[in-house]
Amino acid sequence: MSKPIAIWGPPGSGKSTIAARCAELLGWRLLELDREIEARSQQSIPELFAKGEEHFRQVEREIARDVLQPNTIISLGGGTLVDDGLRELYQKETHLFRLDASHEALVRRIASQKNQRPLFASGPLSESLALLLERRRGAYQSVTAVIDTERLSIARAADAILRQAMPSDSIKLSLSGKEHEYHIGAGTLSSLGESLVQLGARGKVFLLVDRRAAAHHGARVRTSITAAGLQWSWVSLPPGELQKNSNILWRTLRFLTKEGADRGSFIVALGGGATCDLAALTASMYMRGVPLVLAPTTSLSMLDASIGGKTAINEWSAKNLIGTFYPPKKIIADVTTLTTLPLRERRAALAEAVKIALIADEGLFGWIETNADALISNQVHLDLWQELLSRSAKRKIEIVQQDFEERGLRKHLNLGHTIGHALEANCRDLLHGEAVSIGLYAAMLLSHQRGLCELSLVERVKSLLARLHLPIKAPRYSEGGFFSSLSLDKKREDQMLFFLLCKGFGEIQISRDVTLKEVQGILRALSHGGDAP
Ligand SMILES: NC(=O)c1ccc[n+]([C@@H]2O[C@H](COP(=O)([O-])OP(=O)(O)OC[C@H]3O[C@@H](n4cnc5c(N)ncnc54)[C@H](O)[C@@H]3O)[C@@H](O)[C@H]2O)c1
Repeated sequence: MSKPIAIWGPPGSGKSTIAARCAELLGWRLLELDREIEARSQQSIPELFAKGEEHFRQVEREIARDVLQPNTIISLGGGTLVDDGLRELYQKETHLFRLDASHEALVRRIASQKNQRPLFASGPLSESLALLLERRRGAYQSVTAVIDTERLSIARAADAILRQAMPSDSIKLSLSGKEHEYHIGAGTLSSLGESLVQLGARGKVFLLVDRRAAAHHGARVRTSITAAGLQWSWVSLPPGELQKNSNILWRTLRFLTKEGADRGSFIVALGGGATCDLAALTASMYMRGVPLVLAPTTSLSMLDASIGGKTAINEWSAKNLIGTFYPPKKIIADVTTLTTLPLRERRAALAEAVKIALIADEGLFGWIETNADALISNQVHLDLWQELLSRSAKRKIEIVQQDFEERGLRKHLNLGHTIGHALEANCRDLLHGEAVSIGLYAAMLLSHQRGLCELSLVERVKSLLARLHLPIKAPRYSEGGFFSSLSLDKKREDQMLFFLLCKGFGEIQISRDVTLKEVQGILRALSHGGDAP
């Protein structure tokens, strides 16, 4: 439960619109105080005012105290917090913001509104407003978190509010002796340019961007980099998995060469896991390694793909066959980018979150069970997503820091991926997270079949995946293609299939003696509805 956010400011400052945008981003309840007053008193604001301003303020005071509920965005009336007691209460109990704009802008906006406000019913608008602002000056000024709605668009103003109200999380990581930071929060993309300068970027920055992610968030990134005094060059990549191949890799490397990128040139990836993987491989290969910053824009890339320094492209129907280990200089995850991500993509990442919870955090598994419905709702609950991503990222960071080059412990993160990757490579319609969901359930079935884990845990995982609307049943795929991908899988070690099995929470076991016959049996079970044999 989070403290409510209250938005105040003079008439015409944009309280209702910006509050609505914040509520949409967070998936919180929107409460417009004036509408609430009308509903509860069953009188319109002009009717209440007709009984005298003091009468209206009295009603307003009572209702304003009553609506302070967690997870609510409150759009206050223009004069609500002139009352000292109420202002003190809101300063204490809410994240309180004041919107501001110039006198001219306020007059213009008020004049364009259909419903004229009672306070401006008499006299010319400009003078009445000036008098009103003068009267309330002290009260307005005592609210110090100010958002300038003249300079910022509605979306940017809402971002600025969320950035301040929802503290971002920074986690330090050290991979192979190289320190860097994972920074997650709402609106963090706006600080990308500043971060690049702090990291030592000079000259031109090379932005490798997923075309779809860039259509929504590219402008913010360009503005931030330009504002930091840096130049940029732009490489637009085909969406998602279509970019993770050698053609695109060579094309990108050729572009860097033609543009004269040198060893000090920064590469910035903006996109999902596919972009992080491709851009990181590019950065690790160009001139034997140039500085890299990742700006993941999908839930999966925020909790998984951007963390741990693995880079890859797919080749010859095998996932991630060609790749390197190459840590970035910084990871900047902006959860507001999730609002443009299709629900199916957002949801698919939950399979990786369930996986990490099984491997390392039983409490997180329970948290996902509690919040499952909100996590898959159409409305993105950014506060819940930030908590989930941050918690999952921490667990992954703990593991990869101990075993950067995947010699032991880090292999556990492949739980569900042996079957998952082979399915992903052979089913066009399956997203990475969905393939992991099927692979995870298959690994649980196999673990139970081998007497390693209780049926109750298999059922608990199955039921959570189903609640998250994630698949547990293998779709149509070519068996030949599946087994050839399995044999090419990088996890096939010493000619043995390499499987991760689960004995219980936090108890993962590496197995090298799983036979193809067992895999076939599990696949048959999956295609018949996926019940435990
Ligand atoms: N390196 C690692 O450790 C690691 C770990 C896990 C997964 N991966 C890799 O990550 C990839 C999957 O990543 P993913 O799930 O992020 O998918 P993705 O990168 O394929 O992106 C999914 C889709 O979302 C679009 N998109 C991206 N951001 C968007 C936004 N904000 N708004 C709208 N559309 C947006 C993309 O164009 C694409 O169509 C796989 O290739 C997988 O192998 C790597």
